[in-house]
Parts: sequence; structure tokens; C-alpha cells
Amino acid sequence: MSDTPPLTLRVNGEEHALAVDPSTPLVYVLRNALGLTAAKAGCGLEQCGACAVLVDGVSTLSCATPAAAFAGRDIVTCEGLGRPGQPGPVQQAFVEEGAGQCGYCIPGLVVAVTGLLNAHPDPDDAAVRAALAPHLCRCGSHPRVLRAVGRAVKARP
Ligand code: FES
Repeated sequence: MSDTPPLTLRVNGEEHALAVDPSTPLVYVLRNALGLTAAKAGCGLEQCGACAVLVDGVSTLSCATPAAAFAGRDIVTCEGLGRPGQPGPVQQAFVEEGAGQCGYCIPGLVVAVTGLLNAHPDPDDAAVRAALAPHLCRCGSHPRVLRAVGRAVKARP
């Protein structure tokens, strides 16, 4: 049995006591200890955006910062933004616009747009571009992503 002290993280509304090395970057704890695989381990250098999760409502890259730094914070992954058959509003907007191709970057983009709308319910173009700038899509889906952002804004109550 490991003598590693458990790390407690709040993820998608649930507390998890995890016997993991607290220096492990958060994305690996989410994927390997919790089975939450929406956030992707891409570049590992905070350069691509694939690993984004919400931390206290703010889109945050999770590939380089130790999981221990997120103790006491409210972490939400793309899985926590909807349910199977019941996508959240940003997820629904991405589906309706076909805003994705291979899909690798999409959870990070959905998180980024959700974080943007948390802070700016009716963002201007500059705010949208700033929110999306850290997110690479090698398939070239950005025009459809921009349309999905507009759709998500219009769908807000
Ligand atoms: Fe975190 Fe690329 S995997 S930014």
C-alpha cells in the first residue's frame, strides 16, 4: 500500500481523495486516476490548449501545473458541462455548427468558450479571439468554432 498522502480534488462537483503523486500535472490525474479523458495531454507545454479545464469558472491549462495546486479549487472538465444525451449549451452549439473535425481540441475549446461566457455573457470579437488564441486546431475548424460561439451567445437565457 502506498504511503503517499491522499490529495483531495473537487472535480465536476464531487470530492475525490486520490493516492497520487501531488506533483503530477493535473491533466494526468484527471485522465489516469479519474478516467476523465476529455482534457487531452497534447503538448504538455501550455502551448496548444487541449488540456483546458475550468478552475473556479476560469479556463485553465492543466498540463504543466501540479495537481496539488488545484486542491480546494472547483475543477470542471468538459464531461461536467453536460451529460450523455443532454449536452450543455456550449456543447450543443458546437454540435449544431459541426465545430470540430478530428475532435482532439474540442473539449479544450468548449471549456474556453464556457469560461469566456462566464466572464463575458456577450463578448465582443476581441474577447472571443483572446479566449480562443491559446487553442490550436490543426484541422482548421476555427471558422465553425467562431459560429458556435455566436450560437452559444444567442442561446443564453
Ligand atoms: Fe496543455 Fe497543450 S497539453 S496546452
